Amino acid sequence: MANIKLIKEAISAREKAYCPYSNFKVGAAALFEDGNIYTGCNIENASYGATNCAERTAIFNGVSKGNKVLKELALIGDVNNYTYPCGICRQVITEFAESKDMKIYIIKNENDYIEKTLDEILPGSFTKKDLE
Ligand code: THU
Repeated sequence: MANIKLIKEAISAREKAYCPYSNFKVGAAALFEDGNIYTGCNIENASYGATNCAERTAIFNGVSKGNKVLKELALIGDVNNYTYPCGICRQVITEFAESKDMKIYIIKNENDYIEKTLDEILPGSFTKKDLE
């Protein structure tokens, strides 16, 4: 069953987006092992490369509170098209994901979203296991 609370939190987090350059608002919500939802938005910078995506803001928010295991993630960008996580965010999701089957909600609105697994959006990923 879909985590509607997580979806709603991502939608509200989108309103906090700081995106004066792209005007493209993104919101994300991450459920961690402590049972709490941590949210994030995209935060842009005049030096464009210093921009932080919403997914990474949400994940870094949860990890900085002591979490290490990401259970589910919800993401909303464009409300008319499904916005998928960028490549860098897929790698960061992989770092903390509980498993390759971790659920990722890609949202247009509260009633229109799709569910993907991490393995579907980043197959053959490079992980800490590769360094052992
Ligand atoms: N953005 C995200 O927040 N997440 C993504 O996965 C894709 C891109 C943001 C970064 C930038 O602020 C804006 O969307 C346009 O690229």
